[in-house]
Amino acid sequence: MTSLSAELTTITGDAFEAEGLSRAFGQVQGSDRSDLAQFQCNGALAAAKAAKTNPRAIAEKIAARLKANLFFSKVEIAGPGFLNLDVTDAMLAARLDVLRADPRQGAPDTGAGRTLVIDFGGPNIAKPMAVHHLRSSIIGDCLQRLYRANGWAVISDVHLGDWGLQIGQLITEIELEGSAPIYFDSNVVGPYPDDAPVTMESLVTLYPRASAACKADPPRLEAARRATVDLQAGRPGYRALWKHFVTVTEAGLTREFASLGVKFDLWKGESGVDGLIAPMIEDLKARGLAETSEGALVVSVARDDDKKPMPPLILLKSEGGVLYGTTDLATIIERVRDHDPALILYVVDHRQHSHFEQVFRAAHLAGFAGNAVLEHVGYGTMNGPDGKPFKTRAGGAMKLYDLIEMGKAEAEKRLAEQGIGAGYTADERAEIARKVGIATIKFADLSNHRTTDYIFDLERFSKFEGKTGPYLQYAAVRIQSILRKAGACAAVPSFLTSPEERVLALRVLALGDIMAAAEDKRAPNMLCEYAFELAQDFSRFYAAHHILSETDANLRAARLSLCAQVLGVLTKVLDLLGIEVPERM
Ligand code: ARG
Repeated sequence: MTSLSAELTTITGDAFEAEGLSRAFGQVQGSDRSDLAQFQCNGALAAAKAAKTNPRAIAEKIAARLKANLFFSKVEIAGPGFLNLDVTDAMLAARLDVLRADPRQGAPDTGAGRTLVIDFGGPNIAKPMAVHHLRSSIIGDCLQRLYRANGWAVISDVHLGDWGLQIGQLITEIELEGSAPIYFDSNVVGPYPDDAPVTMESLVTLYPRASAACKADPPRLEAARRATVDLQAGRPGYRALWKHFVTVTEAGLTREFASLGVKFDLWKGESGVDGLIAPMIEDLKARGLAETSEGALVVSVARDDDKKPMPPLILLKSEGGVLYGTTDLATIIERVRDHDPALILYVVDHRQHSHFEQVFRAAHLAGFAGNAVLEHVGYGTMNGPDGKPFKTRAGGAMKLYDLIEMGKAEAEKRLAEQGIGAGYTADERAEIARKVGIATIKFADLSNHRTTDYIFDLERFSKFEGKTGPYLQYAAVRIQSILRKAGACAAVPSFLTSPEERVLALRVLALGDIMAAAEDKRAPNMLCEYAFELAQDFSRFYAAHHILSETDANLRAARLSLCAQVLGVLTKVLDLLGIEVPERM
């Protein structure tokens, strides 16, 4: 369905056109001053500027035409020529009925079947996921849900970091340990054992040890570099060992992502384009786009008008290893070949900004991007109370799994404080705490604009009042409980009788516009803001009206229908945010 604001834009556009002006001036949006009007159109000012005439005179002509339209209950001119518009209650009610029947719940069709590939932060093999990967998962998951709802064909790829130096470091560490000699015996080419010589737990200690050793000891680092090159060149024992690392890590990551409710269509990684790299490099060399610089093979991506120095993209290091810039470039070739996307979004920490700038420039220079717009959707850091990246009490990097556990524990504490669930089974209580804990973390993360750093404050995020995930879940549960108490009742045609109902109806009808705007800005915080406003509008409506105790049967039925519709919209927005609503709380 078209949104209410789009429908008003058509009507107003017609009026401008009838006055011999461009219909583009007819853009209508929700009013910035909801105390003055429901909607506004500022087009008369722009039209007057273009035609060098008086804006008020144009506004008057447009207003006269709009007044003849039964859609509007108010058409007013404010200031130099702003049009303030209100829609009749009957029209709002009719729109609510159309929305109720829409299987897409008012979502816009901005995708129109086009394909989006969404690349997540690329958690690394052998290292447990850290908190910055949490932000990628939460923001990226919200975006994939939103784009899908908006009619895009979405393909999400976890894009594991599985091909870099950290693998060489691990391989050499295992060689030095001497615990699995078969993988290093140059007389053996397989088959290798099916059982992994490592576990997620052992990797967690192996990797930091290997990385520290390489930092302290240059020959050790050199050995790790060589092992990486040999792995990439296909040495069988190393490939077999690498496969074990990947399998073990994937199992661990799957557990973490599942507990967050995040799913990917593809579990690919940097290694997936191994076969594309040599031909890509040959092609770039043949076209004179790749050159040797200080022993490395690079693509120069600087431009004359660059304000800051822009280093070249390194394809091959001097010892022959590839970096994730190389695999990121080859992955563009693969994605364009396999999916012909209109858009590829990389949801990765904003500290990687220049990395992506280099990769995108190289892709455009080489003509690899096909029809795809390439865009880095960066995000800021989640900090501790000291303003520095969030750490454990012991000072280590906080792991995602532990953070989720913290969220659940805090939720359990809060629920007990509120006396929620005292009479429920332990299982149900744990399930509620799980949903509330995850909502706490996700909402806190998504409600800030993604580029701002924020301070992680579990105490505040877990409150049942204010702009929090638990507050919104509670708001939804409360409506569920009203509807449960009312028993089975069929939806009836809407009618509105009060200012609170009108405000609520306008909010419900705005969802499609918010979904389009949040997509346009890649801004999940707009959905958070909307969910919060919707919950507050509902609270005001609930405080001002009888619902279950309403004695007029028609009024009671209409209000219950409105409750059900608000619940549907609230549940939908929370679902876009990746938040589940408990049955009861
Ligand atoms: N694996 C790298 C990291 O964790 C990020 C790779 C960025 N590239 C990508 N296509 N996601 O820092």
